[in-house]
Amino acid sequence: MPHSIVLLPGDGIGPEVIAAARLVLDTVARRAGREIVIESCPIGGAALRQGLPPLPPATLAACQRADGVLLGAVGDPAFDHLPSSERPEGGLLGLRKGLGLYANLRPARIWPGCEGAGPLKPEVARGSDLLIVRELTGGLYFSEPRGIDRDRGVAFNTMRYSVGEIERIARVAFDAARRRRRLVTSVDKANVLETSQLWRAVVTRLASDYPEVTLQHMYVDACAMALVTSPSRFDVVLTENLFGDILSDEAAVIAGSIGLLPSASIGDGPGLFEPVHGSAPDIAGRDIANPIGAIASAAMLLEHSLGAVEEARAIDAAINRVLTEGHRTADLAGGGPHVSCSRMAELVAAALA
Ligand code: IPM
Ligand code: MN
Repeated sequence: MPHSIVLLPGDGIGPEVIAAARLVLDTVARRAGREIVIESCPIGGAALRQGLPPLPPATLAACQRADGVLLGAVGDPAFDHLPSSERPEGGLLGLRKGLGLYANLRPARIWPGCEGAGPLKPEVARGSDLLIVRELTGGLYFSEPRGIDRDRGVAFNTMRYSVGEIERIARVAFDAARRRRRLVTSVDKANVLETSQLWRAVVTRLASDYPEVTLQHMYVDACAMALVTSPSRFDVVLTENLFGDILSDEAAVIAGSIGLLPSASIGDGPGLFEPVHGSAPDIAGRDIANPIGAIASAAMLLEHSLGAVEEARAIDAAINRVLTEGHRTADLAGGGPHVSCSRMAELVAAALA
């Protein structure tokens, strides 16, 4: 049976980086003799522009049937005036909910030669290799009640977590730590929030099932600082939805560019894989985006959804080779010579040999 992959190019630079990832996917699959069937569907602003809702029912159905889903980005300033549920972002949130994707894995590490690419001093960034495990279907993003009462001039959201929700995401983090450097840093705001107090208690209790893993707790404000002052002290960072959203953008600074970061969203059905960078409307359509986050996301899809570990490793090795040879997209070039998005994809595909 061929594997089925759904591509959701979406908005802004999404279509460019997905075309790049597709080239690499097709190349690696062909070499491995692996048959994959690829289908593209609209989501986000791209769907709205076709007169469809941000998550068309046909798109959700295709994703539910697929082995894995690769998404570019959603977000389009043309729709910023709409209420939350009708904005492009609603498409992504609906997909997370619809596929039950409760665990978001966001690795941030230094690729070779990129130590000086970001604003951190190379000696601070060097050796950093962390994984943010972000809870993705609870917390402030999804809990009820929520709303705006325009007559009274108030708006409200709810942060709610159940023991079951905390346990299942904590297990993802502990399992990941077992395969890594065996340290989990659980991030919360337990000095203020009841949800965090429950979070801390549940994570602490669960830790006894993983005696080989060290657990530490950190407040989110302290973690935000430590991530950029001493990033190499972290292995697995476990946190709730909104904290994880914020900290994972911050962690991009460690890697040198947000364009390098892949992510995986995992539930009980098909997984969703996407670069962390978002739609970047300011550079869309110019073929200058960094496709490596999307290409590395395709590698995560191969590994997690298709069990194609060797092909995933081959893509990582190809990215490694191309960066080691000194090829850079504009975001990493510091004003120096750089290659286009599509050229970077060709280089990675060629390096698969
Ligand atoms: C992300 C994005 C999304 C989020 C938006 C687009 C809804 O920022 O994947 O981090 O906030 O989760
Ligand atoms: Mn985000």
